Amino acid sequence: MRLAVFASGEGSNLAAILAAIESGALQATVAVVLSDRPDCPALQRAEAHGIPSYGVSPADFPNKAAFETALVAHARRWQANFAVLAGYLRICGPTLRGAFVGQMINLHPALLPAFPGLDAVGQALAAGVRVSGCTVHLVDEGVDTGPIIAQQAVPVLQSDDVDRLRARIHEVEHRLLPTVLQWFAEDRVHINGRHVFVEGLP
Ligand code: GRF
Repeated sequence: MRLAVFASGEGSNLAAILAAIESGALQATVAVVLSDRPDCPALQRAEAHGIPSYGVSPADFPNKAAFETALVAHARRWQANFAVLAGYLRICGPTLRGAFVGQMINLHPALLPAFPGLDAVGQALAAGVRVSGCTVHLVDEGVDTGPIIAQQAVPVLQSDDVDRLRARIHEVEHRLLPTVLQWFAEDRVHINGRHVFVEGLP
């Protein structure tokens, strides 16, 4: 499995993917890292690992399709066959989704369908929930609406603020995302409409 990892920010989940590959827990290669923010730390992490990485600025293109065509060209150049949105803060259009049909997942810092979209951690705190968490799901045309593959809960503590809760959700994400990728690498994930069946899980 040759991954195209899409990120817009820190790239701590990219780091978790790379660590899982290096430890042998994940049988995959990060073929390329792509970002819509040319100065983001995720790209610097990729460069530090010698991974091809590209910051592609949407402002340099006349429309979303042209921007995504450029992203897809980079992904194809490095023979990526699976896309991971790990903190990529843009909605994928048909051009990008069409390049990775059934082979594109997103990581979201809440228990979907609760709190989709931006600032999911802040949304959870504002709603006063006792439990939040993270979700890995397939990407469809909506915002954080695709079929759910895996979720893990994180308790919301009374002492939490956005930074503290986000940090604990991150810890869980860093284990869950490589785990899900390894399921794909082992060809254990089967999609049936909204339902995802993972071989070997109870
Ligand atoms: C993660 O919390 C992920 O759920 C969300 O964006 C964040 C990315 O963090 N979509 P990082 O860039 O991997 O550190």
